[in-house]
Amino acid sequence: MKTLSEVLAQEDEIVRLDPDHPGFKDPVYRVRRNEIARLALTYREGHPLPRVDYTPEEQAVWALTWERLGPLHETYACREWLESSRVLALDRGRVPDLTGVNVTLSRSGFRMLPVAGLISGRGFLSAMAQGVFLSTQYMRHHSVPFYTPEPDVIHELVGHAASLFHPDIVRLSRLFGEVARGASGEAMKRLELVYWYTLEFGLVEEGGALKTYGAGILSSFGEMERLTTKAQLRPLDFAAASTLPYDPTQYQPVLFVSPSWDRMVGDVSDWLKTI
Ligand SMILES: [Fe+2]
Repeated sequence: MKTLSEVLAQEDEIVRLDPDHPGFKDPVYRVRRNEIARLALTYREGHPLPRVDYTPEEQAVWALTWERLGPLHETYACREWLESSRVLALDRGRVPDLTGVNVTLSRSGFRMLPVAGLISGRGFLSAMAQGVFLSTQYMRHHSVPFYTPEPDVIHELVGHAASLFHPDIVRLSRLFGEVARGASGEAMKRLELVYWYTLEFGLVEEGGALKTYGAGILSSFGEMERLTTKAQLRPLDFAAASTLPYDPTQYQPVLFVSPSWDRMVGDVSDWLKTI
């Protein structure tokens, strides 16, 4: 059997994982990550989207994650995400491909295009001005299905695709994109942080209960299970949210709550107009 360094020496290594990444010591996973990244890098707009043939192990991670997420969504997902998710009706047994998701998503004016991995905040947000959501296609490492330190296909489809079916999220996403295109470096940092604490990790009150609309929470059963017990909850305050650094490799210690969905939508768009 080859050692990790022997396997990787033969690879044109596109994806570099941190030593604390759950897949760092798994040569099969690292080769697979490169394969899927290569598909995205060779994609040219206007051509058919690359199709990933997910392995039985990857399909199992998808199905297992849905088994855990499904009941938690009934308790913690906001009404708007639940409604959108029912319309999008993702296959919970097999990983859907982006082409199929785009057929339904096209009704909202958005489409998902492949990207090899995490890109700059400006690149990611700016694409949304044109109704493009840049989506990864790889699967999180099977040893840590409850959380991912980087956006994977579960995060993109469960968290973002369903959200992007809601007209308010579509409007906010486009607005984030438009502002990002002209933002200075300093404004870009604030924009990324507010995106993180709202569309990725935001909470709203709904009928006296705490619900989430954040893609990062909706796609992580670890985050959802600790939502009401471990995270420090603060009213959404843009001065704080736009300056509070975050660590994507850990559960979020601080989350921001809006008094309602409508207030969240109004407050975030008002703030974006000040940038
Ligand atoms: Fe995300």
